[in-house]
Amino acid sequence: MAQLWGGRFTKETDQLVYNFNASISFDQKFYKQDIRGSIAHTTMLAACGILTDEERDQIIDGLNGILHDVEAGTLAITSEYEDIHSFVEANLIDRIGDVGKKLHTGRSRNDQVALDMKLYTRDEIIDIKELLKELLTTLHSLMKKHTDTYMPGFTHLQKAQPITLAHHFGAYMEMFKRDYSRLCDIYERMNYCPLGSGALAGTTYPLDRELTASLLGFYGPTLNSMDSVADRDYCIELLSALATIMMHLSRFSEEIIIWNSNEYKFVELDDSYSTGSSIMPQKKNPDIAELVRGKTGRVYGALTSLLTTMKGIPLAYNKDMQEDKEFTFDAIDTVKGCIALFNGMIKTMTVNKHNMAESAKKGFTNATDAADYLVNHGVPFRDAHGIVGRLVLICIDKGIALDDLPLSEYKEVSPVFEEDIYQAISMKECVEKRNTIGAPGTEAIKKVIEINEEYLKNLK
Ligand code: ARG
Repeated sequence: MAQLWGGRFTKETDQLVYNFNASISFDQKFYKQDIRGSIAHTTMLAACGILTDEERDQIIDGLNGILHDVEAGTLAITSEYEDIHSFVEANLIDRIGDVGKKLHTGRSRNDQVALDMKLYTRDEIIDIKELLKELLTTLHSLMKKHTDTYMPGFTHLQKAQPITLAHHFGAYMEMFKRDYSRLCDIYERMNYCPLGSGALAGTTYPLDRELTASLLGFYGPTLNSMDSVADRDYCIELLSALATIMMHLSRFSEEIIIWNSNEYKFVELDDSYSTGSSIMPQKKNPDIAELVRGKTGRVYGALTSLLTTMKGIPLAYNKDMQEDKEFTFDAIDTVKGCIALFNGMIKTMTVNKHNMAESAKKGFTNATDAADYLVNHGVPFRDAHGIVGRLVLICIDKGIALDDLPLSEYKEVSPVFEEDIYQAISMKECVEKRNTIGAPGTEAIKKVIEINEEYLKNLK
């Protein structure tokens, strides 16, 4: 048991208590950030005359040595230490002697852990943004490729109106663009440095908090020392953004699973992204899409868990807040894995254009257009709706599409129909006519693709 405290205790900590309290098994994940924060703190202490330049250099060399040895695998982070902060400080003292004991001047583990968690999540936001950018780039090229891949658009999972695959991918493009901008917003709001807030009430040392903040790439110091050590809003915001990303990935996965099924055959997942069955030789399963859908639950769980943990905590720091870490780390790792795998899966899947178009044709997705044809010839929409409904019934009876019903039968139901009805309800025409911005028509989609091209170019 290596602890940073003990002076006022007369008994050893019970082993079970020690184990229950310790966080080293998970907070070792931010050893880099802990060391980075300590180096900035040391630099600031020397700039303020609290440490000599010599002491500063010794401490920084020691900290860099620890970083080097941990990364090289020659220094193991073990459960002998209570947390990562104790590990780093104890090792520093081992290495450089008494001067190492000066590192913690003007600092508490409360502002230290608040800083570490911020640095860690901030680094991860940058990584997740990069992964989202790759996914957006894949979707963009798929959109460009599929502006004339016709398919049914669905409502209630019933075929509704014809669209293109580019349009369908475009919907997800918008969702992930919003996800990206949510991450940017969080970054902007969280990017203030809590270090220098001490345990809760600042310190009596003349610290230069602006300097520490700028050394660590923050916009400035946080403005209330109590809030600084008690704030986990940025974790909650991040978990909420991650939960939303997972919700999007899960909906998309659900669609891929349906499209990849034997009944639909709209797409075929690549062998490298599919798995087999131990008993049924014919099987090729969409496990990756299913796992992405399934893992959504644990990310939602992380959000609910932290919101619940935080809701009853009085100011300022309380140990409950140590519970912020495991779920947040797990959610971050889960989302990163899911975005990367999902991206690879859609990049490598094959699209069956023929099946998609046939399905749109067979599903009466052009029925609205047949009604619009009548409206354009002076029939009130409500009557047109009824007429086409009757035509659909006839076609269902005959097992044919509206495109294959002879004109004579059209005319029996309404004399308004002429030969040009076939042109008016052709798949191409149905899609092409929808050219307001945001609609699936080629002109409209090309405009959106251009906007997205610019968007991706300027993405920061
Ligand atoms: N492991 C602790 C956490 O994650 C570090 C802060 C400890 N502070 C304290 N006063 N016990 O929150």
